[in-house]
Amino acid sequence: MKLKALVVTTISILLASTAAFSQAKPGANIPHLAKQGTATQLIVDGKPFLVLGSELNNSSASSLEYMRPLWPKIAATNLNTVLATVSWELMEPEEGRFDFSLVDGVIDGARRYDLRLIVIWFGSWKNGKSTYQPVWVKANQQRFPIIQDEKGKGLPTLSTLSDANRDADSRAFAALMKHIREVDGEAHTVIMMQVENEVGVLGPSRDHSPAANKAFAGPVPKELMDYLQAHKNTLIPEMRKRWEASGLKPSGSWEEVFGAGPETDEIFMAWNYARYVGHVAAAGKAEYPLPMFVNTWLRQGPDKPNEDKPGGYPSGGPLAQVMDAWRAGGPAIDILSPDVHVPNYSDWCDWYTQSGNPLFIPESRGDARGVAHAIATAGKYDGIGYSPFGIDRLASPDGELAKGYQVLAQVAPLILERQGLGKMTAVLVDKETPRSKVRLGDYTIEARFALRAQDPNAPVAAPVDRVAGLYIQLGPDDYLIVGRGMNVYFESATDPTQSVGLATVDEGQYVNGRWSLGAG
Ligand code: DGJ
Repeated sequence: MKLKALVVTTISILLASTAAFSQAKPGANIPHLAKQGTATQLIVDGKPFLVLGSELNNSSASSLEYMRPLWPKIAATNLNTVLATVSWELMEPEEGRFDFSLVDGVIDGARRYDLRLIVIWFGSWKNGKSTYQPVWVKANQQRFPIIQDEKGKGLPTLSTLSDANRDADSRAFAALMKHIREVDGEAHTVIMMQVENEVGVLGPSRDHSPAANKAFAGPVPKELMDYLQAHKNTLIPEMRKRWEASGLKPSGSWEEVFGAGPETDEIFMAWNYARYVGHVAAAGKAEYPLPMFVNTWLRQGPDKPNEDKPGGYPSGGPLAQVMDAWRAGGPAIDILSPDVHVPNYSDWCDWYTQSGNPLFIPESRGDARGVAHAIATAGKYDGIGYSPFGIDRLASPDGELAKGYQVLAQVAPLILERQGLGKMTAVLVDKETPRSKVRLGDYTIEARFALRAQDPNAPVAAPVDRVAGLYIQLGPDDYLIVGRGMNVYFESATDPTQSVGLATVDEGQYVNGRWSLGAG
């Protein structure tokens, strides 16, 4: 076999050979999602787009002055997209009077630096609480009810079980989407929306307000039961198990159908958040149908038991185990996204790609490990993109993020061309899992974590504790490899007796779409 491998340490683009991707429906060039093989891609201006993003700190976008010196730094970090918040409070200071000056300013700033935007709607909830709703909402709990704990004590969180809450939020969000369509319907600077932020009940495992107690004692809504019946064989395992325990009851109260306990409270809350947030998303899409996602505060794992149960993390948020309730309750929501601030990155990607959920990571790390995660997201999980939290702090032209995104930007067209088609994969290796073998085409590729190989010239050992390898098949015996800190070995996947040698190995980068020898 005459295997040829291109090794890219600082990469670039390929002269794409396969059929061009053409998606846009007539008259509908709005950013949207489209399938390619098994992948779901984000299409911007008619072409697939890989989000190399980062999220601003929570309040950064509320001051255009603060943003002014930050924009060039962000652009120098090689991002193509910024995630920026719009707060309900600042946008609708009086009921029905909207002020879009901050939205306009952020769109203008992004355009000046050739960046796209994902807008985060800080509406009814942020991190399980209600902080960014206007004072006219906060001050009128009669009209806009809050949740209550088991003892009837009010918590600083709007209740999902209120049409008034839902409708006020939906009206504001619809006004925002109408405005974005008016100012950006042609330019498409804004490419996606995040609806709310890390929703769910913090403290108790469910809302115990009178309206919530009544709904909880009543029957599981028919729409949810119908969804469970229709998707019986493809339900998320945790949901299926919960329902099976009651013998797959076709109807009944929440506790009759799912049994008693915090897990059932969580399913109940997931349904109610999904109904509410799905309603807000649908109201926005009626004005301007950009792709919409929700993000998740994850359970923290057994080593933090208090934060690993519903209520310890926001109960009813779009966690993987209640994904079915979100799908059933909020069909206008396109993507359920994890904010991965926990170490087991791959596990969360596996959980969040169940039942065809496209992977988009709105919050995570922006260091060397984060770059490895970004590569795995795009190359292994066919993800739409990656966005570490806090670009205010991360922005730097010499940082890990800038270097990683520079490389990813070079190979993005190659990645996008192959997502969902089985011609590409990626691996993550680290101290705990130092070896990984995957098959791609007729070869098995083994990566071995090479701690000593990390930045041998660096005066101080670089803090690279997890690395990614991206493998792209260019032809039957030609591979492009993007990686660092690992050694890579090829074996025949079809004939174990055959030994495989590398015919040629070239190190280089893509410059303006052309392969060019030599590391950058
Ligand atoms: C999660 C939240 O979604 C963000 O708004 C932000 O505060 C981060 N945590 C900080 O890590």
